[in-house]
Amino acid sequence: MKVLFIGDVVGGPGRRGLKAAMPGLREQHRPDLVIVNGENSAGGMGITEKTAEALLEAGGDVITTGNHVYRHREAYEFLDRAERVIRPANYPHANPGRGFVVVEAAGMRVAVINLSGAIGLQVARLPFHEVDAILDRVEADCAIVDFHAEVSSEKVAIGWHLDGRVAAVFGTHTHVPTADARVLPGGTAFISDVGMTGARTSVLGVKPEQALAALMTQMPTRFETATEDVWVMGAVVEVNPQGLADSIEQVMVPAPEPAT
Ligand SMILES: [Fe+2]
Ligand SMILES: [Fe+2]
Repeated sequence: MKVLFIGDVVGGPGRRGLKAAMPGLREQHRPDLVIVNGENSAGGMGITEKTAEALLEAGGDVITTGNHVYRHREAYEFLDRAERVIRPANYPHANPGRGFVVVEAAGMRVAVINLSGAIGLQVARLPFHEVDAILDRVEADCAIVDFHAEVSSEKVAIGWHLDGRVAAVFGTHTHVPTADARVLPGGTAFISDVGMTGARTSVLGVKPEQALAALMTQMPTRFETATEDVWVMGAVVEVNPQGLADSIEQVMVPAPEPAT
């Protein structure tokens, strides 16, 4: 079973870039399951029903999110109702949405679990204990984790925590791809961060001049989603019948024109 995971899709340029790139990615990798992080899909921050639907239409089977998930109030009711759009499981239980979903792919029951790091981000429970509790009770043949976290040490640590128990841990949130993709000794595919799907002429998806102004003046600054040089970033993992990974391959491709 092959899983294609796509990193944080940023705004319209990211959504259109993903849509334009998907036919080529499908042909090259033949994924059975496509997971897309959509936390930045609405105007660069947050998600709405409309942008989630666009990601599902582009080919996503499950949409994960992260710290920007509650940016748009109108999405709360949608998050409660949408089965394949999930938010970090270690947020307060009463918050809108759910933290994992079990889907069928290539004859396997795949648990897709979204978790948030606790360092530099707000959570109700530590990700380590949360994922243990989910794995204890979920009925599935394998599990895939989107670990949405700020700090590389916490990301690498959860990889070791889950090694041999889940098929893959894909890091998201920093929008910068890391060069540490590998299958850990116990059989879990791991990468600290897959990167983002959006404009590379940017600072994490924001127009460079605006991000620079904010950092250099330390004044409130209007952020707009950058549009130039859109790339799609992610990773492909081959999952064996034992529910562990045989391989992980990073994906970094320019979106075909017209992406913007
Ligand atoms: Fe993000
Ligand atoms: Fe994030």
